[in-house]
Amino acid sequence: MNLDASMLPDSIIIINNELIIDDVPAITIIKKYGTPLFVVSKKQLVQNYNKFHERFMKFTKVLIAYSYKTNYLPSICSILNQEGAGAEVVSGFELFLAMKLGVPPSKIIFNGPGKTDQEITMAIDYDIALINADSIEELERINKIASEKGKIVNVGIRIKPNIPGFLAWPKFGLDVDRWAFEAYEKALAMENLNVIGMHAHVGTQICNSQPYVETIRQMTELMHRLYTKLGIKIKYMDIGGGFGVSGYEPLYPIEDQNEEPETLDEMAESIIKVLYSCISHYKLSETILILEPGRSIVSDATLLLTMVEATKTVGKNTKTVVVDGGINLIQFAPYYYHRILPVINNNSKLETVDICGPLCMQSDVIGVNRKLPTLKRGDYLAVLDSGAYSLSLSQQFIRPRPPVILVNWNTHKSVRLGESFEDIFRYDDFSDLD
Ligand SMILES: Cc1ncc(COP(=O)(O)O)c(C=O)c1O
Repeated sequence: MNLDASMLPDSIIIINNELIIDDVPAITIIKKYGTPLFVVSKKQLVQNYNKFHERFMKFTKVLIAYSYKTNYLPSICSILNQEGAGAEVVSGFELFLAMKLGVPPSKIIFNGPGKTDQEITMAIDYDIALINADSIEELERINKIASEKGKIVNVGIRIKPNIPGFLAWPKFGLDVDRWAFEAYEKALAMENLNVIGMHAHVGTQICNSQPYVETIRQMTELMHRLYTKLGIKIKYMDIGGGFGVSGYEPLYPIEDQNEEPETLDEMAESIIKVLYSCISHYKLSETILILEPGRSIVSDATLLLTMVEATKTVGKNTKTVVVDGGINLIQFAPYYYHRILPVINNNSKLETVDICGPLCMQSDVIGVNRKLPTLKRGDYLAVLDSGAYSLSLSQQFIRPRPPVILVNWNTHKSVRLGESFEDIFRYDDFSDLD
């Protein structure tokens, strides 16, 4: 434990050993709604978005399209829409949600490697800003559907940069030095496409600007080649998301464990610097930069409140604490560090413990070797940094999904009800099976 205040998100303070989220004691929320439950801080969410925006506004024209899959709780997406964020969507459902929340189509980007015809049709009908294609075959499908509708569609192509010492996600895009040029050439010949975008996204929890710097160099070089050889003018340069967040301990994965992680401020500065330099070198002054942050906007704006169900000592000396929410709710907890602290700390004696979830699965471990005050059944723990890839991936594995509470300064309200047992099989029909 012993997290000092500077290591906590701004929305969390400890007063008299009690955890306060904005102005609301966590114990008040627990008493009203029970555990487990997610708590979202509106203040933290808005602050994260606006800080991110400020950092990148230094570039002339920027569109920040929040990556919906990171956490598509409608209240979160709606708050971000009110703050001016666009939407990066990867399915018909996410596109539908963005439209329902009133995100202007001119701020919606559609990505993903497996778009269905129905999803492409939706995107074309809504006149969104850009569909980023992942393959030549997909470009052909977009062109065909657009032609049937008598429309011209804005498209980009996802490229895969070649970054020394860094494995850009291999499943996505077209290799910058192999297939990408050919794809643009083919797209140019397709009559119903307006080829104006280039997209890259190389990973997540990246705490070093180097992969971005290299990506930008390779993208702008290709943009220059496309213009001089094919006359293609790229308006939207989309460098994706992936920006890492910093926590209390070293974050994972860091590409090189000996390397100091950079802060988001430092990363943004290096990115803007190389952008200006490449843009002016290749005379690409009209470029609009698109960013698709997810984790950096939502990670520390949500926490999970849990109750200790059981404690025991395993083997010789390993103290294990079982809480009532595990990887059914925060699926990536075994891979990404989550700060964990007591909701009320009335015990000054510290112990080193492993924190496990309640699932009957060995992998359900959410924190190992944590120094926490001695815990007993009925105590509460807050699992911080639970905003990214938790709610949208939370499962009904053996239990219904819990409620989500939004804290807005000193008020709190439920923005998603907890599910009931019945909800788990609401859409099943097990009658008349004879
Ligand atoms: C295409 C694309 N854009 C944006 C994101 C958001 O990434 P992050 O949450 O790391 O910022 C992802 C996540 O994997 C992605 O695949």
